[in-house]
Amino acid sequence: MSRDLPMVVGEPGLPDRVTIYEVGPRDGLQNEQTVIPTDVKATFVRRLLGAGLPVVEATSFVHPKWVPQLADAAELMRGLVDALGDPARELPVLVPNERGLQRSAELGLRHVAVFASATETFAAKNLNRTLLTQFEMFTPTMAQAIDLHMTVRGYVSMCFGDPWEGPVPVDQVVAVGTRLLDLGATQLSLGDTIGVATAGHVKELIAAFGDAGVGPERLALHFHDTYGQALTNVHAGLQSGVTTYDASAGGLGGCPYAHSATGNLATEDLVWFLNGLGIEHGVDLDAVVATSAWMAEQLGRPSPSAVVRALTG
Ligand code: HMG
Ligand code: MG
Repeated sequence: MSRDLPMVVGEPGLPDRVTIYEVGPRDGLQNEQTVIPTDVKATFVRRLLGAGLPVVEATSFVHPKWVPQLADAAELMRGLVDALGDPARELPVLVPNERGLQRSAELGLRHVAVFASATETFAAKNLNRTLLTQFEMFTPTMAQAIDLHMTVRGYVSMCFGDPWEGPVPVDQVVAVGTRLLDLGATQLSLGDTIGVATAGHVKELIAAFGDAGVGPERLALHFHDTYGQALTNVHAGLQSGVTTYDASAGGLGGCPYAHSATGNLATEDLVWFLNGLGIEHGVDLDAVVATSAWMAEQLGRPSPSAVVRALTG
């Protein structure tokens, strides 16, 4: 493995520490043609936890016909039961509705995430609902989760652009996001599902949430690297005070219902960038690279992450 390291040079005004919210096993594997065996997924999750990632989104309790790659969600989570007992680690799962919540509650899971759309078209394609009726699913689902003392993350997809509708009005994103927070979401993850965000747009959206009374400490940013902008957008987020970033080991993933969505920001690329800035995150870069190289073998294709390629070449 290469011994290249970035020189650590901090930048005034940025946070000292960030949380990396790993989405590879869920957002990554949901979009792979190859269906990965459950035991391999469990090993993937365990290796990511072992690399120091504090949060690993493990799977989705969605309709198996919609996302067959994650149809083994219950079996996977049953196999991870010992890891679920560690209070220092979170293994959240996606749930769209009451049925999904019930399936996760039966397993005693403590952290769930609902996923809303900022646009009409994606609400139809991803959730079979409208921009308004998606909340008929989330309202009882989130209320029940809170009754069960679960934490509920709220995702908003298509926050910057939508392949069918084009640029998405900032006010529309803020309206969907604040509604999820009003329903009790502990954190809002703003998804650039197709990777069209640029730095000024990121800052404008965070500022618009600020104007609506939602500070950066309640936000997470979820970038896709389709146009090579993901790290520039992280930088814009750091300058705006956001301290949680979603990323996917090896840059796996996209979204099965948004075909122009390519890989998420790679965890390794994010870690390299944060290391250069001297921002703490607690993640062992070499351990994540080794995990992604191993997963690339399982998938039969190389990782799209620049850092994985550089460190394994
Ligand atoms: P629907 O067809 O409207 O569902 O789909 P329904 O409520 O009418 O129910 C129909 C049948 O599905 C019923 O069964 C339900 O029991 C069953 P029947 O009575 O006909 O036998 N059903 C379920 N079964 C298992 N688990 C469930 C479940 N719910 C209903 N949870 C639904 C609505 C939301 C279920 C469907 O649209 C769905 O599963 N969508 C998920 C799509 C998805 O997972 N997309 C990817 C994740 S989003 C994303 O990747 C973006 C994000 O990463 C951010 C970013 O990248 O920007 C978060
Ligand atoms: Mg994503």
